[in-house]
Amino acid sequence: MKKFLLVLMSLMMLALAVGCGGGEKKTAEQPKVLKVGTEPTFAPFEFQEKDSKDFVGFDMDLIRAVGKQLNMKVEVQNMGFDALIPALNAGNIDVAVAGMSITPDRQKAVDMSDPYYVSGLTIVVNKDNNAVKGLKDLEGKGIAVQIGTTGAEKAGSVKGAKVKTFNTNAEVFLELKNKGVDAVIIDKPVAEYYLVKGGKDTAKLVGETMEAESYGMSLKKGSPLTAQINKALSDLKKNGEYDKIYEKWFGSKAPAEKK
Ligand code: ARG
Repeated sequence: MKKFLLVLMSLMMLALAVGCGGGEKKTAEQPKVLKVGTEPTFAPFEFQEKDSKDFVGFDMDLIRAVGKQLNMKVEVQNMGFDALIPALNAGNIDVAVAGMSITPDRQKAVDMSDPYYVSGLTIVVNKDNNAVKGLKDLEGKGIAVQIGTTGAEKAGSVKGAKVKTFNTNAEVFLELKNKGVDAVIIDKPVAEYYLVKGGKDTAKLVGETMEAESYGMSLKKGSPLTAQINKALSDLKKNGEYDKIYEKWFGSKAPAEKK
């Protein structure tokens, strides 16, 4: 009987030890979650794979590389572009990665990381439109834009323009195709990608690139993650990982002035 009790007790202790050990191991190995918000109609920076609906693109690869660097598990959420900053401030997401241009207004509302891509705005019109050659020609015309973007702001500055805002860029480009507007104002690399992916059958770019804008990742004001993300971005630029991601999405080496 005594022997039996002894065996039982040691078995129980063993179970306890294994249980605890397992538990500890789990917390030590499980990376913390980095909650990322994006608006995925902005290829090649963020879009969803047709079938799997996976979030892909330059921004998505970059934030996953940052996550790896910080030993954090990246989880991406889809939201409206104009919902990103409110979601940061409400604490629903840790970081917004959405081709978001660094602007003084945004810097008042949130912390923005160091720039990771230099961009600019452009005008897209239908192929058969020969009247629009630049911003000036858009006075009094219809312009489609995505809500809350710098393109929307630019369109709003055009005298007498009838600006139509949409939640997604899919709708923005469709409106142009359907001739509901004369033009679209959008980030140049996104317009170029749209043309390459079939848009060139009906649309073209016109005019000069407007505004030099740099993309940054946004975080809640005072977030301790901002410094960590900046460090990770700088490491990725140094160790060649940034260049690899750049080449994957843009098909050419990252020129120094784009980083
Ligand atoms: N760069 C522009 C801005 O900051 C447009 C960004 C749109 N991004 C997106 N994921 N839809 O306003």
